[in-house]
Amino acid sequence: MNKGTLAAGSFFIVPRFILGNGYIAPSDKLNIAAIGAGGKGRSDIINAFNNGAENVVGLCDIDTAMCSDAVEQFPNAKFYHDFRVMLEEMDKDIDAVTISAPDHVHGVAAMTAMQSGKHVYVQKPLTHNIYEARQLTQAARKYKVVTQMGNQGASNPAQSQLVEWFDKGVIGSVHTVYIWTNRPVWPQGIPVPAEKPPLPEQIKPEDWDLFIGPADYVDYHPLYHPFKWRGWWNFGTGALGDMGYHLVDSPFRVLQLGHPTEVECSVEQVFTRDWVPEYIPEGCPPSSTIQLKFPATAKNNSEVKFNWSDGGIRPFHPELIPADDWLGEPDSGNGVIMIGTKGIMTCGTYGTRPQVYLNNGDKLTMPKDYKVDNPNVGLPEYGHQVSWTQACKAGFESKEHKALTSSFDYAGPLTEIVIMGNLAIRSHMTASGKDQRRRMQFDGRKKLLWDGENMKITNYDEANAFVGRNYQEGWKLI
Ligand SMILES: NC(=O)c1ccc[n+]([C@@H]2O[C@H](COP(=O)([O-])OP(=O)(O)OC[C@H]3O[C@@H](n4cnc5c(N)ncnc54)[C@H](O)[C@@H]3O)[C@@H](O)[C@H]2O)c1
Repeated sequence: MNKGTLAAGSFFIVPRFILGNGYIAPSDKLNIAAIGAGGKGRSDIINAFNNGAENVVGLCDIDTAMCSDAVEQFPNAKFYHDFRVMLEEMDKDIDAVTISAPDHVHGVAAMTAMQSGKHVYVQKPLTHNIYEARQLTQAARKYKVVTQMGNQGASNPAQSQLVEWFDKGVIGSVHTVYIWTNRPVWPQGIPVPAEKPPLPEQIKPEDWDLFIGPADYVDYHPLYHPFKWRGWWNFGTGALGDMGYHLVDSPFRVLQLGHPTEVECSVEQVFTRDWVPEYIPEGCPPSSTIQLKFPATAKNNSEVKFNWSDGGIRPFHPELIPADDWLGEPDSGNGVIMIGTKGIMTCGTYGTRPQVYLNNGDKLTMPKDYKVDNPNVGLPEYGHQVSWTQACKAGFESKEHKALTSSFDYAGPLTEIVIMGNLAIRSHMTASGKDQRRRMQFDGRKKLLWDGENMKITNYDEANAFVGRNYQEGWKLI
């Protein structure tokens, strides 16, 4: 299947019924390429491949060791180091792309792919910053492509249970939300590495330039690649970017929140010497707490105070929840609490373990036989990738597309509110003053007021530097 057949909608060269049940004609398959084929990228492309239901035609990675398993599994896929070259050279041969490179690459890779008409599956966080999220959301509509963000918990039936309870008025209007995570589970809040170790054999200098992509240049260090890029603003989005989407998704879906109007935060200080806090604005902090305020919506007749904490800081145990019950998920490491006028609704990561504690002492749990209208739900990651590939084949605005649980129309606004927390943290970490160590002036440590429509902090202009980012030449989001 290529762009021509996609445009033609449901035209297949050999109709399924001629070939018999269960046989999929080669022309009926989507041609998929992966940008980032190691780490999470490997399971994304395997899940999208779906045991041969689709073709994997291209793989792109900057580290040949990281992606060696995927290369072995898909020997017929063409291999590239630079996704821009892959998308140009294989243009006609690619229908859809999975994007599972680090966060700073998502925006530019997705935009480049969508501009040439490719459907995209983009790992969470959809983007590195709010500006990119808004741009991708608009581009998906403009280029009429089928999109899905990789927050697979969106396809968990438990999310439907949470929505159903709320819609039935079981917990009344929600006024307070607590969300927490045990992340970061990688080095975070540490000084920028000073030493310059050589590049590992499998990464050539030009590959490292590709890793940097749109970001500011820094020399290779194992504290950046693989995996640990999460803890550096240049590449990652910290604890929020890692777990926010798997947790914030539930209250965002349930309450259908709009733009927040205010955001405030507090971040942990790091001491390696007495009395003198480290000043590391390049790195995400080891822990933070954030509060966003949302106005009432048509669906929820109350202003919502939306509280996030990371680094293992949990909310206090609500009185309504028995002291010996876990909060959120077993071990209480991650979770969500939504406090309403009639009771409390809780869940863990991906919406798991949904429960309600009513003010009258009753408790509701999800029935074991709870059913949703999703034939792929038994597949890996609740069929999140397979639902996307099927929607790609059905086409833009098809029934299958509309049934996707995290297409950019949903994922873009979700991304904006999660990443809003990072804007507050970075503002909080901005210091001015001559002696930055002893007499810091932290002008950005205040309640920030947000004009969501115009993507602007209205009471501290310096914070607007964190709405978007500066791009290296050749990597602009256009
Ligand atoms: N949905 C989930 O459950 C889940 C789980 C883990 C990671 N993720 C997301 O997946 C993404 C990748 O995370 P990870 O843990 O796999 O990171 P990782 O560093 O372990 O792997 C990233 C892969 O991308 C490759 N890569 C780096 N820059 C590239 C570029 N410019 N072009 C092509 N390939 C490039 C790396 O070599 C590596 O193979 C992140 O956005 C992360 O948030 C999602």
